[in-house]
Amino acid sequence: MDYLDSRRKSRCAGKIIAAALCITVCIIILKQNQSPTYSSLSLFSQHELGVTHVLVTGGAGYIGSHAALRLLKDSYRVTKVDNLSRGNLGAVKVLQDLFPEPGRLQFIYADLGDAKAVNKIFAENAFDAVMHFAAVAYVGESTMEPLRYYHNITSNTLVVLEAMAAHKVKTLIYSSTCATYGEPVKMPITEQTPQLPINPYGKAKKMAEDIIIDFSKTTDMAVMILRYFNVIGSDPEGRLGEAPQPELREHGRISGACFDAARGIIPGLKQRITIQCWGYLPMILID
Ligand SMILES: NC(=O)c1ccc[n+]([C@@H]2O[C@H](COP(=O)([O-])OP(=O)(O)OC[C@H]3O[C@@H](n4cnc5c(N)ncnc54)[C@H](O)[C@@H]3O)[C@@H](O)[C@H]2O)c1
Repeated sequence: MDYLDSRRKSRCAGKIIAAALCITVCIIILKQNQSPTYSSLSLFSQHELGVTHVLVTGGAGYIGSHAALRLLKDSYRVTKVDNLSRGNLGAVKVLQDLFPEPGRLQFIYADLGDAKAVNKIFAENAFDAVMHFAAVAYVGESTMEPLRYYHNITSNTLVVLEAMAAHKVKTLIYSSTCATYGEPVKMPITEQTPQLPINPYGKAKKMAEDIIIDFSKTTDMAVMILRYFNVIGSDPEGRLGEAPQPELREHGRISGACFDAARGIIPGLKQRITIQCWGYLPMILID
Protein backbone atom coordinates (compact mmCIF):
# COMPACT_ATOMS: atom_id res chain seq x y z
CA MET A 1 0.00 0.00 0.00
CA ASP A 2 2.78 2.41 1.09
CA TYR A 3 4.76 1.52 -2.02
CA LEU A 4 1.72 2.28 -4.31
CA ASP A 5 1.08 5.58 -2.54
CA SER A 6 4.66 6.75 -2.93
CA ARG A 7 4.61 5.79 -6.66
CA ARG A 8 1.36 7.74 -7.15
CA LYS A 9 2.85 10.72 -5.28
CA SER A 10 6.02 10.79 -7.36
CA ARG A 11 3.97 10.48 -10.63
CA CYS A 12 1.82 13.41 -9.45
CA ALA A 13 4.89 15.50 -8.58
CA GLY A 14 6.33 14.74 -12.00
CA LYS A 15 3.12 15.93 -13.68
CA ILE A 16 3.16 19.16 -11.64
CA ILE A 17 6.78 19.85 -12.57
CA ALA A 18 6.05 19.15 -16.25
CA ALA A 19 3.01 21.48 -16.15
CA ALA A 20 5.05 24.20 -14.45
CA LEU A 21 7.76 23.86 -17.08
CA CYS A 22 5.13 24.09 -19.85
CA ILE A 23 3.63 27.23 -18.37
CA THR A 24 7.07 28.84 -18.00
CA VAL A 25 7.94 28.08 -21.63
CA CYS A 26 4.54 29.49 -22.76
CA ILE A 27 5.07 32.69 -20.76
CA ILE A 28 8.56 33.14 -22.26
CA ILE A 29 7.20 32.61 -25.81
CA LEU A 30 4.29 35.00 -25.22
CA LYS A 31 6.62 37.65 -23.78
CA GLN A 32 8.96 37.32 -26.75
CA ASN A 33 6.05 37.71 -29.18
CA GLN A 34 4.67 40.68 -27.30
CA SER A 35 7.89 42.56 -26.80
CA PRO A 36 8.04 44.26 -30.24
CA THR A 37 4.46 45.56 -29.86
CA TYR A 38 5.15 46.73 -26.35
CA SER A 39 8.35 48.50 -27.30
CA SER A 40 6.76 50.15 -30.36
CA LEU A 41 3.80 51.28 -28.25
CA SER A 42 6.10 52.77 -25.67
CA LEU A 43 7.96 54.68 -28.39
CA PHE A 44 4.73 56.48 -29.24
CA SER A 45 4.00 57.24 -25.62
CA GLN A 46 7.33 58.94 -24.88
CA HIS A 47 8.86 62.14 -26.18
CA GLU A 48 12.18 61.41 -27.83
CA LEU A 49 14.91 63.96 -28.37
CA GLY A 50 15.22 64.79 -32.07
CA VAL A 51 11.99 63.00 -33.03
CA THR A 52 8.81 64.97 -33.68
CA HIS A 53 5.64 62.97 -33.17
CA VAL A 54 2.73 64.27 -35.26
CA LEU A 55 -0.90 63.30 -34.84
CA VAL A 56 -2.55 63.29 -38.27
CA THR A 57 -6.33 63.27 -37.92
CA GLY A 58 -8.11 62.01 -41.00
CA GLY A 59 -4.89 60.19 -41.88
CA ALA A 60 -6.72 57.50 -43.86
CA GLY A 61 -8.21 60.13 -46.17
CA TYR A 62 -6.91 61.71 -49.35
CA ILE A 63 -4.88 64.67 -48.09
CA GLY A 64 -4.12 63.20 -44.66
CA SER A 65 -2.53 60.06 -46.13
CA HIS A 66 -0.31 62.09 -48.46
CA ALA A 67 0.69 64.39 -45.60
CA ALA A 68 1.55 61.33 -43.48
CA LEU A 69 3.69 59.90 -46.30
CA ARG A 70 5.64 63.15 -46.53
CA LEU A 71 6.06 63.33 -42.75
CA LEU A 72 7.32 59.75 -42.61
CA LYS A 73 9.73 60.37 -45.49
CA ASP A 74 11.06 63.34 -43.54
CA SER A 75 11.64 61.12 -40.46
CA TYR A 76 8.69 62.27 -38.36
CA ARG A 77 6.90 59.83 -36.07
CA VAL A 78 3.26 59.62 -37.13
CA THR A 79 0.04 58.58 -35.45
CA LYS A 80 -3.01 58.51 -37.71
CA VAL A 81 -6.46 58.75 -36.18
CA ASP A 82 -9.44 58.09 -38.42
CA ASN A 83 -12.95 56.67 -38.10
CA LEU A 84 -12.74 55.32 -41.68
CA SER A 85 -16.09 56.90 -42.50
CA ARG A 86 -14.62 58.35 -45.69
CA GLY A 87 -10.99 57.27 -45.85
CA ASN A 88 -9.78 53.74 -46.36
CA LEU A 89 -7.55 51.26 -44.60
CA GLY A 90 -5.58 50.68 -47.82
CA ALA A 91 -4.02 54.12 -47.42
CA VAL A 92 -2.90 53.10 -43.92
CA LYS A 93 -1.57 49.70 -45.00
CA VAL A 94 0.55 51.18 -47.80
CA LEU A 95 2.39 53.38 -45.33
CA GLN A 96 2.68 50.62 -42.72
CA ASP A 97 4.41 48.47 -45.35
CA LEU A 98 6.72 51.34 -46.36
CA PHE A 99 7.62 52.24 -42.77
CA PRO A 100 7.42 49.04 -40.70
CA GLU A 101 10.10 50.01 -38.16
CA PRO A 102 8.92 50.37 -34.55
CA GLY A 103 7.94 53.88 -33.57
CA ARG A 104 7.38 55.20 -37.10
CA LEU A 105 3.66 54.87 -37.78
CA GLN A 106 0.63 53.73 -35.82
CA PHE A 107 -3.03 53.81 -36.75
CA ILE A 108 -5.78 54.38 -34.22
CA TYR A 109 -9.39 53.80 -35.20
CA ALA A 110 -11.44 56.43 -33.39
CA ASP A 111 -14.12 59.06 -33.90
CA LEU A 112 -13.14 62.61 -33.02
CA GLY A 113 -16.70 63.23 -31.86
CA ASP A 114 -15.98 60.92 -28.93
CA ALA A 115 -14.26 63.30 -26.51
CA LYS A 116 -13.44 60.53 -24.04
CA ALA A 117 -11.70 58.46 -26.71
CA VAL A 118 -9.81 61.51 -27.98
CA ASN A 119 -8.66 62.38 -24.48
CA LYS A 120 -7.45 58.79 -23.97
CA ILE A 121 -5.45 58.95 -27.22
CA PHE A 122 -3.75 62.13 -26.04
CA ALA A 123 -3.11 60.64 -22.60
CA GLU A 124 -1.48 57.52 -24.05
CA ASN A 125 0.63 59.22 -26.71
CA ALA A 126 3.29 61.91 -26.55
CA PHE A 127 2.38 64.19 -29.43
CA ASP A 128 4.47 67.21 -30.37
CA ALA A 129 2.09 68.54 -33.01
CA VAL A 130 -1.30 67.94 -34.59
CA MET A 131 -2.29 68.17 -38.24
CA HIS A 132 -6.07 68.22 -38.22
CA PHE A 133 -7.51 67.00 -41.54
CA ALA A 134 -10.43 64.87 -40.38
CA ALA A 135 -13.71 66.26 -41.67
CA VAL A 136 -16.67 65.71 -43.89
CA ALA A 137 -15.86 67.89 -46.86
CA TYR A 138 -18.49 68.19 -49.56
CA VAL A 139 -20.17 71.56 -50.15
CA GLY A 140 -23.33 70.05 -51.68
CA GLU A 141 -23.73 67.52 -48.87
CA SER A 142 -23.29 70.29 -46.29
CA THR A 143 -26.31 72.15 -47.63
CA MET A 144 -28.40 69.00 -47.19
CA GLU A 145 -26.99 67.95 -43.81
CA PRO A 146 -25.84 71.16 -42.10
CA LEU A 147 -25.92 69.80 -38.54
CA ARG A 148 -23.62 66.94 -39.52
CA TYR A 149 -21.13 69.49 -40.84
CA TYR A 150 -21.26 71.78 -37.81
CA HIS A 151 -20.83 68.78 -35.55
CA ASN A 152 -18.10 67.01 -37.49
CA ILE A 153 -16.10 70.12 -38.35
CA THR A 154 -16.71 72.79 -35.69
CA SER A 155 -17.55 70.71 -32.65
CA ASN A 156 -14.87 68.06 -33.32
CA THR A 157 -12.22 70.75 -33.77
CA LEU A 158 -13.15 72.01 -30.32
CA VAL A 159 -12.68 68.47 -28.95
CA VAL A 160 -9.22 68.25 -30.55
CA LEU A 161 -8.25 71.69 -29.27
CA GLU A 162 -9.38 70.92 -25.72
CA ALA A 163 -7.40 67.67 -25.72
CA MET A 164 -4.35 69.53 -27.03
CA ALA A 165 -4.70 72.11 -24.26
CA ALA A 166 -5.19 69.47 -21.57
CA HIS A 167 -2.12 67.51 -22.71
CA LYS A 168 0.07 70.51 -23.54
CA VAL A 169 0.46 69.89 -27.25
CA LYS A 170 1.40 73.29 -28.59
CA THR A 171 1.50 73.13 -32.37
CA LEU A 172 -1.54 72.86 -34.63
CA ILE A 173 -1.86 72.88 -38.39
CA TYR A 174 -5.50 73.13 -39.36
CA SER A 175 -6.85 72.08 -42.72
CA SER A 176 -9.42 74.73 -43.58
CA THR A 177 -10.74 75.64 -47.00
CA CYS A 178 -11.23 78.33 -49.63
CA ALA A 179 -14.96 77.84 -48.99
CA THR A 180 -14.53 80.21 -46.02
CA TYR A 181 -14.18 83.06 -48.56
CA GLY A 182 -17.60 82.52 -50.13
CA GLU A 183 -17.93 84.52 -53.35
CA PRO A 184 -15.34 87.30 -53.14
CA VAL A 185 -16.05 90.46 -55.13
CA LYS A 186 -12.38 91.01 -55.92
CA MET A 187 -9.91 88.55 -57.37
CA PRO A 188 -7.38 87.21 -56.72
CA ILE A 189 -8.19 86.11 -53.20
CA THR A 190 -5.53 87.17 -50.71
CA GLU A 191 -5.01 86.82 -46.96
CA GLN A 192 -6.84 90.17 -46.66
CA THR A 193 -9.95 89.03 -48.54
CA PRO A 194 -12.93 89.04 -46.15
CA GLN A 195 -14.14 85.56 -45.19
CA LEU A 196 -17.85 85.43 -45.92
CA PRO A 197 -18.79 81.76 -46.35
CA ILE A 198 -22.04 80.97 -48.11
CA ASN A 199 -22.62 77.31 -47.25
CA PRO A 200 -22.58 75.21 -44.05
CA TYR A 201 -19.23 73.60 -45.01
CA GLY A 202 -17.52 76.98 -45.32
CA LYS A 203 -19.31 78.36 -42.26
CA ALA A 204 -18.39 75.35 -40.11
CA LYS A 205 -14.72 75.70 -41.13
CA LYS A 206 -14.77 79.46 -40.50
CA MET A 207 -16.16 78.87 -37.00
CA ALA A 208 -13.47 76.26 -36.34
CA GLU A 209 -10.84 78.76 -37.52
CA ASP A 210 -12.24 81.44 -35.19
CA ILE A 211 -12.13 79.06 -32.22
CA ILE A 212 -8.52 78.14 -33.00
CA ILE A 213 -7.42 81.77 -33.46
CA ASP A 214 -9.19 82.97 -30.29
CA PHE A 215 -7.62 80.18 -28.28
CA SER A 216 -4.14 80.77 -29.71
CA LYS A 217 -4.34 84.45 -28.67
CA THR A 218 -4.60 83.49 -25.01
CA THR A 219 -1.98 80.71 -24.99
CA ASP A 220 1.44 79.85 -26.36
CA MET A 221 -0.05 77.47 -28.92
CA ALA A 222 1.41 77.96 -32.41
CA VAL A 223 -1.25 77.57 -35.09
CA MET A 224 -1.27 77.59 -38.84
CA ILE A 225 -4.40 77.52 -40.96
CA LEU A 226 -4.33 76.27 -44.54
CA ARG A 227 -7.12 77.52 -46.79
CA TYR A 228 -6.48 75.65 -49.93
CA PHE A 229 -8.61 75.32 -53.01
CA ASN A 230 -9.60 72.21 -54.92
CA VAL A 231 -6.82 69.70 -54.45
CA ILE A 232 -5.94 67.18 -57.11
CA GLY A 233 -3.12 64.75 -57.83
CA SER A 234 -1.46 61.92 -56.03
CA ASP A 235 1.82 60.42 -54.91
CA PRO A 236 4.00 60.47 -58.07
CA GLU A 237 4.96 56.85 -57.39
CA GLY A 238 1.29 55.85 -57.43
CA ARG A 239 1.23 54.37 -53.93
CA LEU A 240 -1.57 56.64 -52.72
CA GLY A 241 -4.37 58.50 -54.41
CA GLU A 242 -7.83 59.93 -53.97
CA ALA A 243 -10.51 57.27 -53.47
CA PRO A 244 -13.83 58.99 -52.82
CA GLN A 245 -16.79 56.77 -52.05
CA PRO A 246 -18.88 56.30 -55.22
CA GLU A 247 -22.06 57.59 -53.57
CA LEU A 248 -20.33 60.94 -52.91
CA ARG A 249 -19.46 61.43 -56.57
CA GLU A 250 -22.56 63.48 -57.23
CA HIS A 251 -21.41 66.09 -54.72
CA GLY A 252 -18.53 66.88 -57.01
CA ARG A 253 -14.81 67.15 -56.49
CA ILE A 254 -12.25 68.29 -58.97
CA SER A 255 -10.99 64.72 -59.55
CA GLY A 256 -14.51 63.49 -60.34
CA ALA A 257 -14.97 66.42 -62.71
CA CYS A 258 -11.69 65.47 -64.42
CA PHE A 259 -12.76 61.88 -64.91
CA ASP A 260 -16.19 62.94 -66.16
CA ALA A 261 -14.60 65.44 -68.52
CA ALA A 262 -12.10 62.86 -69.79
CA ARG A 263 -14.97 60.48 -70.49
CA GLY A 264 -16.80 63.25 -72.35
CA ILE A 265 -19.67 63.35 -69.85
CA ILE A 266 -19.33 67.13 -69.48
CA PRO A 267 -19.39 68.59 -73.00
CA GLY A 268 -16.84 71.33 -73.71
CA LEU A 269 -14.80 70.65 -70.62
CA LYS A 270 -12.69 67.80 -71.94
CA GLN A 271 -9.62 69.57 -73.29
CA ARG A 272 -9.21 72.15 -70.56
CA ILE A 273 -9.50 69.81 -67.62
CA THR A 274 -7.65 66.80 -69.01
CA ILE A 275 -4.54 68.92 -69.54
CA GLN A 276 -4.66 69.91 -65.86
CA CYS A 277 -5.12 66.30 -64.82
CA TRP A 278 -2.07 65.02 -66.68
CA GLY A 279 0.25 67.25 -64.64
CA TYR A 280 1.27 64.35 -62.35
CA LEU A 281 2.17 66.87 -59.69
CA PRO A 282 1.47 65.62 -56.16
CA MET A 283 -0.96 68.50 -55.59
CA ILE A 284 -2.25 70.81 -58.27
CA LEU A 285 -4.34 73.66 -56.90
CA ILE A 286 -7.03 74.85 -59.26
CA ASP A 287 -9.21 77.81 -58.41
N1 LIG B 1 -9.97 67.76 -51.05
C1 LIG B 1 -10.00 69.07 -51.22
O1 LIG B 1 -10.03 69.55 -52.35
C2 LIG B 1 -9.96 70.00 -50.03
C3 LIG B 1 -9.87 71.38 -50.25
C4 LIG B 1 -9.79 72.23 -49.16
C5 LIG B 1 -9.82 71.73 -47.88
N2 LIG B 1 -9.93 70.38 -47.67
C6 LIG B 1 -9.95 69.92 -46.29
O2 LIG B 1 -8.88 68.98 -46.12
C7 LIG B 1 -9.26 67.96 -45.21
C8 LIG B 1 -9.08 66.59 -45.82
O3 LIG B 1 -9.84 66.49 -47.00
P1 LIG B 1 -9.77 65.20 -47.91
O4 LIG B 1 -10.03 65.63 -49.29
O5 LIG B 1 -8.55 64.44 -47.63
O6 LIG B 1 -11.06 64.40 -47.38
P2 LIG B 1 -11.22 62.84 -47.13
O7 LIG B 1 -12.69 62.61 -46.99
O8 LIG B 1 -10.48 62.06 -48.15
O9 LIG B 1 -10.52 62.63 -45.73
C9 LIG B 1 -11.11 62.97 -44.51
C10 LIG B 1 -10.79 61.87 -43.52
O10 LIG B 1 -11.34 62.21 -42.24
C11 LIG B 1 -11.95 61.05 -41.68
N3 LIG B 1 -12.97 61.51 -40.73
C12 LIG B 1 -14.10 62.21 -40.99
N4 LIG B 1 -14.77 62.45 -39.87
C13 LIG B 1 -14.06 61.89 -38.87
C14 LIG B 1 -14.26 61.79 -37.45
N5 LIG B 1 -15.34 62.30 -36.87
N6 LIG B 1 -13.35 61.13 -36.72
C15 LIG B 1 -12.24 60.58 -37.31
N7 LIG B 1 -12.01 60.64 -38.63
C16 LIG B 1 -12.90 61.28 -39.41
C17 LIG B 1 -12.52 60.29 -42.86
O11 LIG B 1 -12.74 58.93 -42.60
C18 LIG B 1 -11.42 60.53 -43.91
O12 LIG B 1 -10.45 59.51 -43.86
C19 LIG B 1 -10.69 68.27 -44.79
O13 LIG B 1 -10.65 68.96 -43.58
C20 LIG B 1 -11.20 69.18 -45.90
O14 LIG B 1 -12.18 70.06 -45.43
C21 LIG B 1 -10.00 69.52 -48.73
